Amino acid sequence: MGIGPSLTFNNGVEMPAFGLGVFQSSKEDTAAAVRTALEAGYGLIDTAAGYQNEAEVGKGIRDSSVARSEIFITTKLRTRDFGYESALRAFDASLTELGVDVVDLYLLHWPVPRIFENTVASWRACERFLAEGRARAIGVCNFTPAQLSTLMEQTEVVPALNQIELHPFFVQADHSETHRKLGIVTQAWSPIGGIQRYRGDGSAERDPLRHPVIAELARKYGKTPAQVVLRWQLDLGHSPIPKSINPQRILENADIFDFALLPEEVAAVSALDTGHRGGPDPNTHGPT
Ligand SMILES: NC(=O)c1ccc[n+]([C@@H]2O[C@H](COP(=O)([O-])OP(=O)(O)OC[C@H]3O[C@@H](n4cnc5c(N)ncnc54)[C@H](OP(=O)(O)O)[C@@H]3O)[C@@H](O)[C@H]2O)c1
Repeated sequence: MGIGPSLTFNNGVEMPAFGLGVFQSSKEDTAAAVRTALEAGYGLIDTAAGYQNEAEVGKGIRDSSVARSEIFITTKLRTRDFGYESALRAFDASLTELGVDVVDLYLLHWPVPRIFENTVASWRACERFLAEGRARAIGVCNFTPAQLSTLMEQTEVVPALNQIELHPFFVQADHSETHRKLGIVTQAWSPIGGIQRYRGDGSAERDPLRHPVIAELARKYGKTPAQVVLRWQLDLGHSPIPKSINPQRILENADIFDFALLPEEVAAVSALDTGHRGGPDPNTHGPT
């Protein structure tokens, strides 16, 4: 399923490590981007109810020449639908929008620390989707190690995956180390530092793709900065899900399976960590 390596979840389900993100992909652009990606060999599409493009993701899948069985679909429960009963309704709505009976991975989009019991109730609903076979795996996004252990103390199923902000300027190595110990896959959102650009001031200092260490590696390997950063993600064992609606960049981002960084080069990219996140803080994030 898909180009590149796979990662195996704690319940035995396999997921392609590399995929396409569609956050901020407009309704007009999404179906074409999904189709282009699938036909270029992407095996994983990452959407969310909150992105308001699940229907267009479903259309892109149906328009493509790739069989549903060859495609791994992730979607997410938005925090405004947290709660057991509301999660049941939101999940049904996502399946309808996507036009599928089963989703491969269903994620809680954010923890809601102020009312964590709602987060737990939503996770119990996810456990039900898993038991019913309507989600092949379930996981979370943006959980800190402490939030993961609170969830795991109160529920049965260990999340298969945690999707977190992770790029060369915000590496969160403590998170991936915790995930490794718990058997949870680390998935990187903003894997090429998108959040540093679309939420930033446009300066080179904020953009990992313009950092001299990454530019030098790109020159050495005859690759682009984005390809070097995506290769770094794979070399660390992460699942990167870069977003693009541009056909050329969709192809560029997938052309990363014919080289690998040396261990000291992986370490040099990891050393660019600033410790400063570009996105919201999971410790204070509220319902959206
Ligand atoms: N769980 C969460 O809370 C959460 C939060 C954020 C994101 N995500 C997921 O993670 C996915 C990826 O994250 P992201 O969209 O924030 O950031 P990203 O993938 O790191 O970067 C995307 C941005 O970079 C541009 N881009 C794509 N390929 C490029 C290339 N080769 N060279 C230069 N620029 C390039 C894209 O523009 P073009 O489209 O014009 O190419 C877009 O502006 C999202 O789409 C979403 O699925 C999840």
